[in-house]
Amino acid sequence: MSVPISKKIALTGGAGFWFTTAVEEAGLPSIMLTDGPHGVRRQVGSSDHVGLGEAAPATCFPPAVALSSTWSRKTLEEVGEALGDEAHALGVGILLGPGANIKRSPLCGRNFEYFSEDPYVTGELAGAFVKGVQSKGVGTSLKHFAANNQETDRMRRSSEVDERTLREIYLRGFGKVVKSAQPWTVMCSYNKVNGVPAAENRFLLTDILRDEWGFAGFVVSDWGAVHDRVKALKAGLDLQMPADGGVGDAAVANALEAADIDEATIDRAYGRIQRVLSRATAHADADRTTGWDVDAHHALARRVAEQCIVLLKNDGVLPLARDAKLAVVGEFARTPRYQGAGSSRVNPTRLDNALDAITALVGDEVPFAPGFATDPQEPVAIAREADVVIAFLGLGENHESEGYDRTTLDLPLEQLTLLEDILEVNQNVVVVLSNGSSVLVSPFADRVPAIVEGWLLGQAGGPAMADVLFGVVNPSGKLTETIPARPQDVPSYLHFPGDASGVRYGEGLFVGYRGYDAAATEVSYPFGHGLSYTTFAYSDLTVTATATGIDVTVTVTNTGQRMGREIVQAYVSIADSAVVRVPRELKGFADITLDPGRSGTVAITIEADDLAYWSPIHRRWVVEGGAYTVHVGASSRDLRLAGVVELPGNEPTAPATPQTTLGELMKAPQAAMVFQAALAGLFGDASDDPETRRIMADMPIATIAGFVGLQPQQLDDLLADANRAMGL
Ligand code: GLC
Repeated sequence: MSVPISKKIALTGGAGFWFTTAVEEAGLPSIMLTDGPHGVRRQVGSSDHVGLGEAAPATCFPPAVALSSTWSRKTLEEVGEALGDEAHALGVGILLGPGANIKRSPLCGRNFEYFSEDPYVTGELAGAFVKGVQSKGVGTSLKHFAANNQETDRMRRSSEVDERTLREIYLRGFGKVVKSAQPWTVMCSYNKVNGVPAAENRFLLTDILRDEWGFAGFVVSDWGAVHDRVKALKAGLDLQMPADGGVGDAAVANALEAADIDEATIDRAYGRIQRVLSRATAHADADRTTGWDVDAHHALARRVAEQCIVLLKNDGVLPLARDAKLAVVGEFARTPRYQGAGSSRVNPTRLDNALDAITALVGDEVPFAPGFATDPQEPVAIAREADVVIAFLGLGENHESEGYDRTTLDLPLEQLTLLEDILEVNQNVVVVLSNGSSVLVSPFADRVPAIVEGWLLGQAGGPAMADVLFGVVNPSGKLTETIPARPQDVPSYLHFPGDASGVRYGEGLFVGYRGYDAAATEVSYPFGHGLSYTTFAYSDLTVTATATGIDVTVTVTNTGQRMGREIVQAYVSIADSAVVRVPRELKGFADITLDPGRSGTVAITIEADDLAYWSPIHRRWVVEGGAYTVHVGASSRDLRLAGVVELPGNEPTAPATPQTTLGELMKAPQAAMVFQAALAGLFGDASDDPETRRIMADMPIATIAGFVGLQPQQLDDLLADANRAMGL
């Protein structure tokens, strides 16, 4: 049965807040799209996109800020599978996540929903998540495409990013997910990119997403991101959400009438949506007889939370003895901050807290004082009597959220004051943090024996934290974002969040550890850092160039007294590069779990594509030929071993022109020979003088020709000889 054009237009415009239009003629039911990413938020009453209306109970897993600290593709896929089951049970056809935006500044209010300051780990883990969800017949929506790295003025502001930075940093993780996992949908962001709204950005939605990456799904707008439906359709946006009372549909119909848009464009969007939605096995109107194993998913949430926890510092006070004389301070111990605020807010099936779990482990009541807003004397009183104080500190929901950014990296003043009061009477304080993005620990890190970064751990995070504190679980999480020592050290500090004229990504490639390393900036804790209750040694590194990249193997030995999991990281640098480079970049990681005294070999494959840089000159990805150093270690600043390999590269040989410099010519051996004789004739012995060569290296050959009266034809002949010698 043919589908009338009016129904095709309707399918591109959404129905209601969370649903697509049913197309009976195509046997296509209405499909529900809803958030994501770390739990299913199926609203049951009023609908909104900022987490106000109530949602049906679902498992609240740790948000991306914590999940990424597992550095485990397997864990991300497992969480995705569980979410796919819950989405299916709740009749959700497409889960709106994962969020893959780069953490350009720790001030971004929505960083809790994103993976990292690094595109490689973002792409690897978000791809695993997508595979997990979609293995259950439920789609995903990779978001927010693109360069949506702040909440300030997010619906209007233009992200001004040079193309190399945009591609290598802000798009690269998205590209990895599209190529490795083919998300059913990609969600365009609210903001502009270099002046063009993402919803109408053909460069992003068609040239890159489809023509370069081969994206085969459909593009859905962020909720309310479409301002010109016709322009959006033409640019490659397929589904406008939510429905807008038919205004957009009418605009498309009128544009068709006026030949401002052709039917093929409408067919294209309709076809993309129809093909994807026909794969959805969870239909909004299906009777939801199947549920899921709530207890099993809660247990998974707990097991995952254990892997998310990052032990930043431990002078030996951890793990705690169960008979230690303890005091627990901080409301977060009793009222956990376990997820972020906004559209991702989940109504958990249950919610555990650390205080109950600590009490259960200790087997007795533990002195507790909420601190903060209540009487500060009480926490100090119980701290004075304790051997060890566990201080649960962090950011409240009103400090970070979708919709607005933070204005400070500090913990709230009342918490810092409380900590000072406690340190006055007891220095044996274990600080436990709950926060969606890095906070400054420099004000107190040197004065406490242990700091545990718990991020936001989901509904089962409390017992997971207690198990880590008492050593029931050996922590293994590692940072996927740097913890800076000072706000002004953040590479984007001078360029965040911009103003009405736009936000300039002035730090370019030097975001996160790339910037801190380039400036040799001291940080509190570096990207990739995380301690264990055991120790690991690295040995026997091998680094081998292959036809598709670099193969790395390294032996890891558990040199401590208890089983542990180590996340081995591989960073790559290239010497004497022809282009601007950051010192080194993460290009591989793998984890290994070892019993005490045991060794194991970790294998990491680095793909050549991941080594490429975007050449604004050649307007393509280029793998530079040269000596690549692979640094392997436990963090970006705890690099244990290194090996060097030569890679041939694939950079195009640029033809010699009058503007080619002498230095560039001398680098191409065949061209050098041609010019060698000419230079000798022109400069005599001086032409071999290293200092002369050095002074002249950056001179275009036409300039040199001018100095020595070389005739234009002579120069052209020399250049022609050189290009022939180079096979051009
Ligand atoms: C929100 C968010 C997006 C979410 C959508 C639907 O504004 O930006 O991540 O999926 O709207 O709630």
